[in-house]
Amino acid sequence: MLKNELFLKACRREGVDQTPVWIMRQAGRYMKEYRELRKKVDFLTLCKTPELALEASMLPVEILKIDAAILFSDILIPVEAMGMDLSFTDSGPVLGNPIQNEEQVESLTVPLVEEKLFFVFDAIRLIQKTLEGRLPLLGFSGAPYTLATYMVEGRTSSNFYKIKKLLFSRPDLVHTLFKKLTETVTRYLQLQIRAGVQAVQLFDTWAGTLSPETYREFALPYTQQIVESLRPEGVPIILYVNGGGGLLELMAGSGVDVVSIDWRVDIKEAKERIGSRVCLQGNLDPCFLYGNPANIRREVKRILEGFGRGNGHIFNLGHGILPDTPVENAIALVEAVHEESRCFH
Ligand code: CP3
Repeated sequence: MLKNELFLKACRREGVDQTPVWIMRQAGRYMKEYRELRKKVDFLTLCKTPELALEASMLPVEILKIDAAILFSDILIPVEAMGMDLSFTDSGPVLGNPIQNEEQVESLTVPLVEEKLFFVFDAIRLIQKTLEGRLPLLGFSGAPYTLATYMVEGRTSSNFYKIKKLLFSRPDLVHTLFKKLTETVTRYLQLQIRAGVQAVQLFDTWAGTLSPETYREFALPYTQQIVESLRPEGVPIILYVNGGGGLLELMAGSGVDVVSIDWRVDIKEAKERIGSRVCLQGNLDPCFLYGNPANIRREVKRILEGFGRGNGHIFNLGHGILPDTPVENAIALVEAVHEESRCFH
C-alpha cells in the first residue's frame, strides 16, 4: 500500500496493511536539527516565517519516517491575532493581561484570519509543494476551552483554578469568550484546509480537567459546532483531550472521525466503548521513550495487541514528545510500529 494513503485511510477506518504512526510535537527540541534552527530565531519567528516553518515540519519526515507531516506552528498563534500579547519563555507560553472581566472579553476581536495569519497558509502551501504527495499534511488548532485556559490563566496552570472559577462564577462571560473563539477557530481551520491540509486535529488538551457534565456544558457544544461547520470541507477531524478517559463517549459524540487518547486509558477498553464510531489515536506514554528500544517495542506490541485486529488505529503518543527524549528512541518507535503491526492487518 502507498505510504501516503495509510494515515488518511486509518482516519476513515478503512483497511491498511500496517498501522500508521506520527508523534505529537514531532518537530521539537529533542532533535538537534530543531535546536540548530532555534539558535537562529526565537520560537514565534520560527512559526511566522513560512520557509523556516517548512524546514521544521520536514525534519521528522526525513529523520523519523513517520506517516503524516504536521504544520509547524502553535495553538496560541490565533490568540495573539485576537489581540492578546503572546511570548514564549523557557518555561512555556505567557499571555499578557490574562482575562478577568467583561471589558477584556469585549476588546478581543474575531480577526480577519486570512490577513492576520497569512503566514500559516503560506507555510501550508510551501510544505505541500515540498511533500509532493509523499505524505499527508495535518493542520491543527487549539479548541476553544483549551485556548481559553491560556487566556485566563496566562500560562500553563497546575490546577486550572482561575478558568474554573470563571466558568462557575461568570458562565455568561465565558460563553461570550467561547463564541468568539469558536468563530476564530472555525475560520482558521477552514482556511488551513483550503490552503491544502488533508486532516485537522483539534487540541482540547486541558478539557480533561473537567467533569463530564462540565465538559458537556462548556467544551462539547463548541467542538460540535466547529466539527459541523468543517464537515463540508470533507477532511477527517481528530479530537485530542489529555486525561479524556472519562469523556470518551462525549468526545466521540462530537462528530469527529478520530479520538486521540492518552495513556491513562486502556486502548482495548477505549475500543470497546467508542471503536465502532471513531478511529482511535494513541496511546503510548511519552515517558516510554526514555527506555531502551527493546522495552519500547514491547510496549508498542502491547498497545497493538490491545487494539487487536480491525481498522481504525493511528499510533501516537498520549501527549507531546518530551524535549529530552533520545531521537534514536523516536526512530525505534516508528520502526517498531511498522514492523509489529503488519500481523494485525
Ligand atoms: O506537533 C508538532 O510538531 C506541531 C507543532 C506544535 C507545537 N505545539 C510546537 C511547539 C503543536 C501541534 C503544538 C500544540 C500545543 N502548543 C499544545 C497542544 C498539545 C499539547 O502539547 O498539549 C499546547 C498546549 C501548546 C502550548 C505550548 N507551546 C506549550 C505549553 C509550550 C511549552 C512547552 C514546551 O514543550 O516547551 C509550547 C512551545 C512549543 N510549541 C514548542 C514547540 C516545538 C517548544 C518551543 C521552543 O522551541 O522553545
